[in-house]
Parts: sequence; structure tokens; C-alpha cells
Amino acid sequence: MSVPRPAAVIVLAAGEGTRMKSQTPKVLHEVCGRALVDHMLAAARDLGPERLIVVIGHAREKVGAHLAESSPDAKAVVQSEQRGTGHAVRTVLEEVGTIAGTVLVTYGDVPLLRTETLAELLARHAGDGNAVTVLTAEVPDPTGYGRIIRDAAGAVQEIVEEKDATPAQRTIKEMNSGIYAFDGLLLADAVKRVSSDNAQGEEYLTDVLSILREDGHRVGAHVADDYVEVEGVNDRVQLAFVRKVLNQRLLEGHMRAGATVIDPATTWVDVDVVIGRDTVIHPATQLHGNTVISDGAEVGPGTTLTDTKVGAGAIVRNAVADQAEIGPEASVGPYAYLRPGTVLGRKSKAGTFVEMKNTQVGEGSKVPHLSYAGDATIGDGVNIGAAVIFVNYDGVNKSRTTVRDGAFVGCDTMLVAPVTIGDGAYTAAGSVIDSDVPPGAIGVARARQRNVEKWVLRRRAGTKSAAAAEKALADQEKQESGQ
Ligand code: UD1
Ligand code: CA
Repeated sequence: MSVPRPAAVIVLAAGEGTRMKSQTPKVLHEVCGRALVDHMLAAARDLGPERLIVVIGHAREKVGAHLAESSPDAKAVVQSEQRGTGHAVRTVLEEVGTIAGTVLVTYGDVPLLRTETLAELLARHAGDGNAVTVLTAEVPDPTGYGRIIRDAAGAVQEIVEEKDATPAQRTIKEMNSGIYAFDGLLLADAVKRVSSDNAQGEEYLTDVLSILREDGHRVGAHVADDYVEVEGVNDRVQLAFVRKVLNQRLLEGHMRAGATVIDPATTWVDVDVVIGRDTVIHPATQLHGNTVISDGAEVGPGTTLTDTKVGAGAIVRNAVADQAEIGPEASVGPYAYLRPGTVLGRKSKAGTFVEMKNTQVGEGSKVPHLSYAGDATIGDGVNIGAAVIFVNYDGVNKSRTTVRDGAFVGCDTMLVAPVTIGDGAYTAAGSVIDSDVPPGAIGVARARQRNVEKWVLRRRAGTKSAAAAEKALADQEKQESGQ
């Protein structure tokens, strides 16, 4: 479809959104890792408009600051008092001047609206040579929406708000989405002539349609294929609904591109997540931010990854990772926590009940069980025994530990940073290592064992332990005396 570039897209987002019952302005609530208003701006941006304009009012500092950061290409226009949708558009045109060309008007709270649907609206608008084309939808329950009034020939006559509608008009199921393509010059003139003589005492943008029609211009409509797309978010029930729909849409895209999603109902992905082919995403998995899952990797169940890269063929089970990089064919979990700055090399392992932070693990190195590695550099082919703790914090400073290639750190070793375990060096199990171990040496740092004979018989007489010991010692004596 060849669609003329709109001269401007105006996104109305000045309303309060009272029904959200929130400190956060409605359009800043997130679904799939993106604020509602940014979903609309992303869809609008893909039309290549010359200008992107957002009308802000309520909580304008918060919304304005957010937009400056997330959408610096959008111009925010402040509507200090919300005197209706017509007033919002009038405020924009008073500030930026008349806009020649096609002006698309839409809302900041319709995150499901796709660029394709807006393009269809623009194509219809241009194709029919309309002064205004409204996007409409047939909905099962049109309560609360403006209704599309058509004449006997089916041409759009006007839009009547629920509060101004007659009982007969209220039975009409074709609703006004509130999204329109306008001829900019005609809009600029008509919006000045909108009155506020209606049930809500507001300047209705919808009145522009009847004004233009009365002036003898063409007024058209484009009916959206799927009404769900034009449904706005007014409360948190609708927020959950649009999140589910959007998530489903994203997952369908990933599945069609070659990812297996075992349970779409419990898998949640953000818009910018990338998932390769022949990947398997198991149930109860959440992929956030700029997470990337490379080809052939398997993730989940019960895994939450944020801004994390998973290499090709890696396996990540029951894990939480934030800003981590998991190398190709590496293995993570079950029950692992990888914090920012964790980089796992090819075929390496961060196993069960393992936490890592700001730690690099070399190729083929393994940290399989019950360990904490913080601020560490671990070389290639290293084995870290069970329950090894990298003691990186002395209460004031954080220090680094280096474990060089081929080293073997015995179970329950404390590596007190800063410290270096040399190439191929060992540490004895249970050691508290606070000085460097040279290449090929074994570091032993623990008390020598001594046994106090028959201590249990004397000090724990009458216990099960004493009875077991007595029996064993008697048997031993019998054997020794050759009976
Ligand atoms: C509006 C339409 C209605 C349509 C419905 C679709 C009018 C008169 N009515 O009704 O036909 O079915 O949307 O959802 O246009 N806004 C501003 N400034 C204002 C007023 C509103 O920016 O002064 C913004 C709001 O933030 C919101 C949008 O415009 O995003 C719609 O405003 P709202 O008051 O919710 O309009 P509705 O009564 O729902
Ligand atoms: Ca509304």
C-alpha cells in the first residue's frame, strides 16, 4: 500500500485518567516494556510523519520529562485546561500554526493500534479525496463511545456522543475510535467553529465532521477490521487486557519466525526482545528490555531475563538474570541469579543456587553448586567446587579475585579478595585463602584435624551415638583379639 506521508500526527494525551487510580499518569503506564504513549508514537513514527506532536496537560511535568527522554522527536504542546478534544487540537494549531497536508489525530492510550491500520485510514482518506476520514469499529458494547450516524446512503453524517445521543442512536454499534485523518487547512478553520454547547460543555473534535459536511466537503469513514485495536485503556482491567493482547501478538511473531513457545499464556515478552530460530521458551518465562535469545537456546521454565544476552545453544532454567551475557552452549540454573556484569563464556556453567555479579567466567569453566562469585575474573577450564564464596566486600571496599586458567578451587573455599589463584593451582577444601596461590601450587589454609578418642563415650554417655560407638568399638576389639 502506498500511503502519503502525513504532515503531522497529533497524539492527545492531556486527560487525567482518573480511573487508573494512580500516581503515575495514565499514558506512562507500561505494557510489554513500553509506556502507553510510546506505543502510539512508535506506530505513528512508522508512517514517517513530518511532525509528531503530543498534547499534554495533566501531570505535564512527568509526561513532558518522559517524552523528552523516550521520544525527543516529538513536540509536546501543553493544554493547560482540558476543555475537550476539539480544544486540544485547537490549542496545538494556535501554538504551531496551521498545518498544510494530512493531519492524523489519535490518542495516547490506544497501544494496540497498528501502523498498518493507520496506513489503511490514510489510504482511504487520500483515495476518496476526503476532508476528514474517521476510523470506526463495530463493537459488541458501544457504551460510552461516540456513535457514527450514517444517512440512508450509508454516508457519515455526524458523530453523537453517548451523553448527547437519543435512545435510538444509542443502539448503533458503530463507534468512533477518536482517530481521524484530516485535511490540515480545513481542520484549522473548522476547529475554530466548534462550540461547547453540549451535555459535557466541551469542545468536541467530533463536531468538525458535521461542520465540514455542512460546508459541502467529503466526510468518510474507515471501519477497522478488528475493534480490539482501537480500544483504549481507562482502568487497570483494560491495561491487563491490552497487555495480554499485545503479548500474544508479539509471541505469535516470534513463533512464526521460528521460536517454540510452549505456553504462550504464561510467557511474557517486551516489544524489543529478540528471539532466534529453533529456540524453546518454556512456561512462566519473562523476557524484558533488550533481551536477546540466540538460535537454538532453551530458556525456562520459571525464568526472568532483563537486558540479558543468551548465546546460541545455551540452556537457562529457573533463573533470574539482569544485564548478563550468557555465552553459547553455556548452562545456567536451575535456580541461579546472574546480576549485572556477569559474562559467562562458551560452554561454561553457573549451576544450582549460584549467584554472580560483575564476574567473568571463561570458556568451559564451571561453578556448579551453591556459590557466590562477585567481582571475579575466572579463566578457562576452571572448576569451582561446591559452596565456594568469593569474599569481595570487607565492609568498606569491594575487591576483585582472579582465578587463572585450569585452576581447581576446592569445596567451601573462601577466596578473600584481592587474591589470585595461579594457573593450574588448587585450593584445599575448606580453606580461607587470603594470599595468592602460585601456578601449580595447592593453597591449604585450614586447621589440621585432631581426633579425641572416646570423647563421645565420656561426654555423651547414654545417647544413640554413644551406643553406636560402643558397639563398633566392641566389634573392633573382638576382631583384634582374633575371636
Ligand atoms: C472521545 C470521543 C468519542 C470517542 C472516544 C473514543 C469526543 C468528543 N469524543 O470521547 O466520540 O468514541 O473518544 O475513545 O472527542 N483529551 C485531551 N484534552 C482534552 C480532552 C481529551 O488531550 O481536553 C485526550 C484524553 O487524554 C484522551 C482523549 O483525548 O486520551 C479522549 O478524551 P476523552 O475525554 O476520554 O474522550 P471520550 O469522552 O472518551
Ligand atoms: Ca476515553
